[in-house]
Amino acid sequence: MKKRLLLSLLASIPVVAAILALQSCGGVGGPTTDNGGQGSVSADFLALLSDEQKAASSITPEECADCHGGRGPDDPIYAHWKDTKHYSKGVTCESCHGPGSAHKANPTETNILAFPKITDPKVCAQCHGPIADQYNFSGHAKLIADPVEEAIVNPATYGRSSRCIACHSGLVRAEYVEGGKDLGTATDDEIRAIAEETINEVPHSADCVSCHSPHKATGNLTQNGEEAQLRKKVFNTDTTDIAPGKTAAVFTNYNHTCAQCHNGRGTDPSDAKLTSGTARPSMHDSNQMQMLMGFGGVEGTGAVQQNTAHAQAPGQCTKCHMPDSRHTFTVSFDTGCSPCHTAADAAARATSIKSEVLNRLVEVRTRMEAWAKAKFGNDLFWEYTSNITAEGFTAPAQTGVPIEIKRARHNYYFVIRSGDYGVHNAPYAKYLLDVCDENLDKLSVARAAASRLSTQGKLDLIKSDLARARKADLTAND
Ligand code: HEC
Ligand code: HEC
Ligand code: HEC
Ligand code: HEC
Ligand code: HEC
Ligand code: HEC
Ligand code: HEC
Ligand code: HEC
Repeated sequence: MKKRLLLSLLASIPVVAAILALQSCGGVGGPTTDNGGQGSVSADFLALLSDEQKAASSITPEECADCHGGRGPDDPIYAHWKDTKHYSKGVTCESCHGPGSAHKANPTETNILAFPKITDPKVCAQCHGPIADQYNFSGHAKLIADPVEEAIVNPATYGRSSRCIACHSGLVRAEYVEGGKDLGTATDDEIRAIAEETINEVPHSADCVSCHSPHKATGNLTQNGEEAQLRKKVFNTDTTDIAPGKTAAVFTNYNHTCAQCHNGRGTDPSDAKLTSGTARPSMHDSNQMQMLMGFGGVEGTGAVQQNTAHAQAPGQCTKCHMPDSRHTFTVSFDTGCSPCHTAADAAARATSIKSEVLNRLVEVRTRMEAWAKAKFGNDLFWEYTSNITAEGFTAPAQTGVPIEIKRARHNYYFVIRSGDYGVHNAPYAKYLLDVCDENLDKLSVARAAASRLSTQGKLDLIKSDLARARKADLTAND
């Protein structure tokens, strides 16, 4: 069945292009043979080409280089490409860009595979089938549509200023952050166009070329010291670019493969900022790098507890989330945690810290509710104003909310938004919850009794706060 489908697809397209695409396979793991009846991966690639290009034949990389030199930050493309593993394995310009004869005769952007479709992971999947399959299971292959749609409605806020689309569109990351164009000076029309292309053409949070340069050996080595054409480092303990108060132009370009997106957007825990920024939490859902490195939460009177062991693991995030280069980005307790823990030890520790942190989060939340009930007669009024408004209430004046509550709610959101419930940096997560308790003690709010909810019930409770805050974030920015 699969074979017949493949043959009939091939029969319907010009022979030259078909041979060109198929002969070139042989990347890591070889081509995919079973992809759920979607047709062959190479047919997927050919479907990206325009009809004019499908009828074209092959030219040499040297012919491409005659015209392409001195353009953009990644130039000269040809010279860089000659330094790559791709070059040594015979992966040519046309392996990715498709046949070039028509383009050579009359260069346009429609007779060569160019932006936006060239960034589609299907281009790489021709040869990196197993990796592409793994990637397709990950959140990175999906799109959170809200921030991208909002950029169409309001390009100034979601495009130029907050730059949501720099982390929420693989296409924007390739064209602007990596392509050397400034999102801050893009016009409304340019932002609308690339947001629409993201939704209609390449709808992913991150593409292969968000993390990998297509043309260049970069010297940003993997945790095992190997070249992988990574645009940014996998290990970086210099957190200057994501420090409190940094602007979107800086923190969206942080030199870290994962934390270029997985950072808390310059979150600032100072009392001054907690007093002026009362509409919503000042860290984004993606504050994992801050959590790993142990900064960005409100500190208390005791010594700050930071776990440097996980922060110093070779490869940092990739050590645990990409063992054996696995592109699902999910953690594996065996290879991901060795040699430091056995799989059983890692699993036991993860279960125990998650349950401890979850219980303490619920306790802090219960205490903040008790305070709000006593002070305002409404147990939601410990919250940020947009989260109160989202429930249909009028928020009380924030001058009536003491700094102790403002500190506690910052740390509460800081821990839940990182999404790991203490695993990334157990000492820091526990310390931030101590600071919550220290501040609530100052207000003489009684310690809460252990919750009678089931583990799932506790998780649901915490996640309802997360969901509400996300929704409020989106409407508050309009
Ligand atoms: C025509 C087949 C082909 C295509 C298309 C292709 N690759 Fe490769 N790729 C290879 C081969 C072959 C290797 C070398 C594998 C080896 O030696 O283990 C390779 C190696 C790599 C490496 C490792 C580099 C190194 O220095 O070790 C990366 C990263 C990579 N490819 C990424 C990509 C990305 C991203 C794309 C799409 C933009 C892509 N490849 C498209 C065939 C291809
Ligand atoms: C005769 C000169 C010439 C040759 C040969 C040539 N190109 Fe081009 N190429 C151009 C010109 C000129 C443009 C700009 C076309 C336009 O903007 O309409 C272009 C545009 C492109 C683009 C789109 C650029 C962008 O900014 O998005 C890509 C990709 C591209 N070429 C790749 C290639 C590849 C790969 C080859 C070899 C297979 C090749 N070109 C061969 C002249 C050439
Ligand atoms: C492994 C796949 C791959 C190979 C091989 C490859 N490209 Fe590209 N190329 C891409 C992707 C993906 C993009 C868009 C992302 C980007 O620009 O970083 C791109 C962008 C371009 C662009 C437009 C952007 C710019 O920087 O001007 C040109 C021109 C281009 N490639 C030419 C070439 C030429 C010439 C070669 C051969 C010497 C080549 N490419 C080899 C995948 C590839
Ligand atoms: C610095 C990069 C970055 C910026 C800028 C950014 N985000 Fe995010 N965002 C992320 C990452 C990464 C995640 C996933 C976090 C996770 O899974 O823990 C995320 C998650 C989200 C979610 C949660 C989706 C869900 O329900 O799981 C929403 C909604 C969202 N972002 C909207 C926005 C909006 C709106 C903006 C602009 C005002 C924005 N983001 C700016 C990186 C960013
Ligand atoms: C979110 C970032 C990210 C995305 C998206 C991504 N990669 Fe990677 N990739 C990495 C990192 C980091 C490594 C090095 C992992 C390690 O071995 O420590 C890597 C390694 C690789 C390697 C080398 C593997 C080996 O065994 O030597 C290849 C090939 C590769 N990626 C191809 C792809 C392709 C194809 C896609 C899209 C389908 C893709 N990557 C998407 C970050 C990414
Ligand atoms: C271009 C921005 C970007 C980069 C780079 C990036 N991520 Fe993500 N990541 C996101 C967004 C956005 C989401 C949320 C996607 C969703 O929920 O649909 C996400 C989700 C995740 C998730 C949640 C689980 C899932 O699959 O939904 C994990 C884990 C993750 N990323 C790990 C990593 C790691 C590890 C790296 C570095 C190798 C990395 N990310 C690099 C943007 C990025
Ligand atoms: C010490 C190993 C380790 C390191 C280092 C690490 N993580 Fe994690 N991460 C985990 C574990 C374990 C979980 C919990 C997974 C679960 O509950 O299924 C997790 C959870 C997450 C989640 C939430 C996943 C979800 O499904 O919502 C994201 C996102 C994430 N990590 C991203 C990152 C990023 C980005 C980095 C680097 C800044 C990083 N992690 C560093 C082990 C690690
Ligand atoms: C580079 C070595 C290293 C790696 C890799 C590593 N850990 Fe750790 N981990 C440590 C050290 C060291 C400690 C703190 C000292 C101790 O408790 O033994 C620790 C502590 C922890 C804690 C806190 C335990 C507590 O009760 O305070 C958890 C949970 C944990 N690790 C889980 C994991 C998981 C899950 C992975 C893999 C996904 C992992 N670790 C990967 C070295 C590592």
